[in-house]
Amino acid sequence: EKEGFEHFTLKEIFEQPKGVRETLMRRLNSQNEIVLEGVTLTADILKDINKVYIVACGTAYHAGLVGRRAIEMFAKIPVECDVASEFRYRDPFVDEKTLFIAVSQSGETLDTLQSLREAKRKGARILSIVNVVGSSVARESDDLLYTWAGPEIGVASTKAYTTQLIAFYLLALYMGKLNGRLEEHKYFEMIEALKLMPEKITEVLDQSKEIQKLAAAQFNNEKVFFMGRGVDCDIAYEGSLKLKEISYINSFAIAAGELKHGTIALIEDNTFVVAMATQDKLYEKMLSNIKEVKARGAYVFAIAKEGNDQLTKTADEVFFIPTTLDALTPILSVIPTQLLAYYVSALRGNDVDKPRNLAKSVTVE
Ligand code: F6R
Repeated sequence: EKEGFEHFTLKEIFEQPKGVRETLMRRLNSQNEIVLEGVTLTADILKDINKVYIVACGTAYHAGLVGRRAIEMFAKIPVECDVASEFRYRDPFVDEKTLFIAVSQSGETLDTLQSLREAKRKGARILSIVNVVGSSVARESDDLLYTWAGPEIGVASTKAYTTQLIAFYLLALYMGKLNGRLEEHKYFEMIEALKLMPEKITEVLDQSKEIQKLAAAQFNNEKVFFMGRGVDCDIAYEGSLKLKEISYINSFAIAAGELKHGTIALIEDNTFVVAMATQDKLYEKMLSNIKEVKARGAYVFAIAKEGNDQLTKTADEVFFIPTTLDALTPILSVIPTQLLAYYVSALRGNDVDKPRNLAKSVTVE
């Protein structure tokens, strides 16, 4: 059932246009209004909510980081995002005015589930973004937003992540409309841009050969890190996790502004730096970060939006994603990082679908 793909992970990366289309289009009516079947959040309930907590593990947590930005930007409610194993043990301030959002592909991750129960005990309203229908997290939630990624077999989460992003954008826009803090034209601009995503993901996937070539040149490089600013930083975290998890390269990610506060000391000849540079208002700042690492011998792979051609003169290699609203670039910019992790892992001869020491669903504490 790998349908001609060498691994499930690759098949699932290529299933993202479909998963994203399903997750999105099932929620839009002919007037482009968002209809969330399992969500009973009303304007009245939302009026009393003064804080949102997003809690998850691993890749789902990284989706939550992007979700935090979306909810703050469109619904203008303060949001905190936490890894479940930390949230549980730090006596978080949660009450009846809190909306608790759990994110989980499997719906069985124990730390996420226990965090949900803890928040519920404290009176929070529970909304979950889950892929597996009928899972524990799904059953214990007040509101439920399913991702329609389909079954994810590869241990490394790929299509679950992009569909979680879609769920967050839908939720943020829905909440912003419900509480009246999102202007109509911004709402429709976002919906129109979201609807183009499946096509644009396909355009990115059509360039997978470029990443394959890059992987062939770099797969033995053990000095790697990712950096980005703004939402690109969230993608740097996710890209780095994916790479380390299936390639076993000791990779990490930083907010690019933190470079000079320590990490720059690590740069030597041929350190492989993945620089995420998709955000217009942070572009110049990223360009200087790229120059700083280049000047110290790094090999820079940049991910940017089409049209930012001057980057080709600064970075060693540039991957261009199609243009879109800056708020939506994560859906596209994460894909070259997934492909990079995949090809590096495959070239190193690893068991890509079942990386060592990992389980698909972590049901122990
Ligand atoms: C990384 C990965 C893990 C999971 C994490 C949460 O590729 O797959 O980090 O994202 O274990 O799992 P779920 O989403 O099932 O709660």
